[in-house]
Amino acid sequence: MNELDTHARDAAVRALADARRILALTGAGISAESGIPTFREAQTGLWARFSPEDLATPEAFACDPERVWGWYRWRRTLIARGGVNAGHEALAALERHRDVRIATQNVDGLHAAAGSSDIAELHGNIWRERCSACAANTTTAVAPADEDAPLPACSRCGAPTRPDIVWFGEMLPADALARAEQGLNEADCVLVVGTSNRVYPAAALVETAIAGPATVIEVNPEATPVSTAVDVALRASASHALPALVAALDAAPARR
Ligand code: OAD
Repeated sequence: MNELDTHARDAAVRALADARRILALTGAGISAESGIPTFREAQTGLWARFSPEDLATPEAFACDPERVWGWYRWRRTLIARGGVNAGHEALAALERHRDVRIATQNVDGLHAAAGSSDIAELHGNIWRERCSACAANTTTAVAPADEDAPLPACSRCGAPTRPDIVWFGEMLPADALARAEQGLNEADCVLVVGTSNRVYPAAALVETAIAGPATVIEVNPEATPVSTAVDVALRASASHALPALVAALDAAPARR
C-alpha cells in the first residue's frame, strides 16, 4: 500500500485532534484484511458468488435453512480464523484520545474482540442465534459449528434457530439505529471506513453526516458514491490508514 497522501492525512489528523466525539461508521472493508471477503467487490466479493436473495432473506431461510446455515457457519469459520486486524485495533486504540462510538454494518463481532467499548451493531451479530418462529431467547455460539452439524433448534418450540442478523427486507434493530443516530448528532468528526455506502439505512447515516457540521473522513482504497462529498478521502486500506492516524495522534501534543 502506498504512503498516505500527506495533505489528506494531515487534514484527517487535524480533524481527529480537534474532535471531542468521534463516530466510526464501518463496513465489510475493515474486516477484509482479516481474510473475510467483502460483499460487493467484483472478483472476490461474497455476492459475486452468491445472490443475496438466495441466502440473506427470511424467504431463503424458510425454503432451505440448511443451505443458509451452511453459508453462515462457513463465515463463522472465516471470522474465527481471521481474528482482529490492525484496523480494528486502531479504532479501539483511538479511545485513548477521544470519546469514540462505533456503528457497524458488520456482524463479525471483531470490534468488540479488539476492545472497542461502544458499538452499535446495525445488522446484528453472526454469533447470536434466535428462534425463527417464536422469537425465544437469543443464545450465543461460542465456537464455529461443524458445517454439517444438525441445525440448531429452539429449546421452546423446536423450530430451527436462525442467525441474529438483519436480512434483506427486515428492519434494523431500533436500539442500535437510535444509538448510531445519537452518535452522529453528538460527533464532530465521522470516520467512514470500508463501506461501499450502498445499503440503506446505514448509507443514509453517512449522507446525514455529510449534510451536517461534522468533518467526514472516508477510509477506503476505492472510490464510493460519497467520496467526492466527504471532507477528506483517504484512499488506503483500513489496516494501513487507521494505525497511521492513531500514531500521528499519539505523537501530537495533548489537547486541553
Ligand atoms: P461492501 O462489500 O458493499 O463494501 C466493502 C467496501 O470495503 C468497498 O467499498 C471496498 O472498496 C472497501 N474495502 C475493501 N478492502 C478494504 C480495506 N482493506 N480497507 C478499507 N476498505 C476496504 O460492504 P458493506 O458496505 O459493509 O449486509 O455492505 C453493507 C451490507 O451489505 C453488509 O453489512 C451486508 C451486505 O448485504 C448484511 O449481510 C445484512
